[in-house]
Amino acid sequence: MVNIALLGFGVVGSGAAEVLTENKSLIEKRLGCEYKIKYILDLRDFPDSPFGDLIVHDFNTILNDPEVSVVAEMMGGSHPAYDFTKACLLAKKSVVTSNKEVVSTFGVELCRLAKENGVRYLFEASVGGGIPIIRPLINDLSSNCVNKISGILNGTTNYILTSMRDNGATFEDALKKAQQLGYAEANPSADVDGIDAARKIVILAALASGKLIDPKTIHTEGITKITLEETKIAQSLGYTIKLIGYTELTPSGLVALVSPRMVPASNPLCRIDDVFNGVLVDANMVGEVMFYGPGAGKLPTASAVVADIIDIISSQSYAPKTIDWTQATESDQCDFEEYSCNRMFIFRGDLPEFEYAGRVEECDGLNAFIPSNSISEKDASAIADKFGASLVSVYRIL
Ligand code: HSE
Repeated sequence: MVNIALLGFGVVGSGAAEVLTENKSLIEKRLGCEYKIKYILDLRDFPDSPFGDLIVHDFNTILNDPEVSVVAEMMGGSHPAYDFTKACLLAKKSVVTSNKEVVSTFGVELCRLAKENGVRYLFEASVGGGIPIIRPLINDLSSNCVNKISGILNGTTNYILTSMRDNGATFEDALKKAQQLGYAEANPSADVDGIDAARKIVILAALASGKLIDPKTIHTEGITKITLEETKIAQSLGYTIKLIGYTELTPSGLVALVSPRMVPASNPLCRIDDVFNGVLVDANMVGEVMFYGPGAGKLPTASAVVADIIDIISSQSYAPKTIDWTQATESDQCDFEEYSCNRMFIFRGDLPEFEYAGRVEECDGLNAFIPSNSISEKDASAIADKFGASLVSVYRIL
């Protein structure tokens, strides 16, 4: 009998309890052993829930119970989630989590502690909700060098952008609906300002490179400045605006950023709408591989949490027993000013005099200048200066 403890009984925690209960006989058959949820830690009581009797309020009840060998942390936020995770690993209990904030901030230390204590720290649910992406990167693509990952990594913002584009919903109404559906973070600024996607892209970048970048240090833009006008110009030119997390191993180092991008119709990420996420992995042997599925929500995220629990309990796991990351230093990273990609400059009036070749497209009184070659961040700022007050916005193109 394996005893499991759940930390947090919110959207994901209650989903994990449901998955572990609803699919119990199926999972136990696959595992060849029985399990039970012994405790659920939460500050609140749930007298009407079938899991109400399992609620405990003191973390030490779980920590000090030698029968508990697997702990699922689904509390959200850094503290006390990080502190509880660390204590569990030191007590030789394996931990699984959906908490991207903790993985992206403390992942190096927590993976090391798991290794030193002979237990596991798994985080499939931390990126892409229900999409299997962490384990495939660790296992199935392990014969490859992953050069590039681009992804729609936040379900809330993709849901908002799709509702605005297809239903003419206001930003506020679409956000409220995303909150009701259990997609949004406790503080939705983490979603709409790109912070959540930044945490997820650094986790993916670390899986590709072994270097974990502090998510607070990467270039991060959200969706709050995207206007209806820009959405229209994008569509008329054959693009869709999506919030994209991007990482690349360039010859001058690792780059990671989050920003809205013009995604051309030829890119499969263009067709990923609503709460769905998509991750496009470019690896040197297999080529391009695409992962797609529900990026947020109770049962999809819980499904990934429980997959990690099963991985830990299973004696036949294919997953490597350890993840060896180091903290990325400045020298591991490309100077962001040198990061180069295709761009679109949206402006009013005439094109200024400059040496950059490209084409100009017109739409509804706005113009778009698309340089023929890729442009570095530094040069993009110089071009933006040339436009002066007639510049409306600059987009990176995927
Ligand atoms: N708020 C997150 C999102 C939840 O919308 O993607 C899943 O990580």
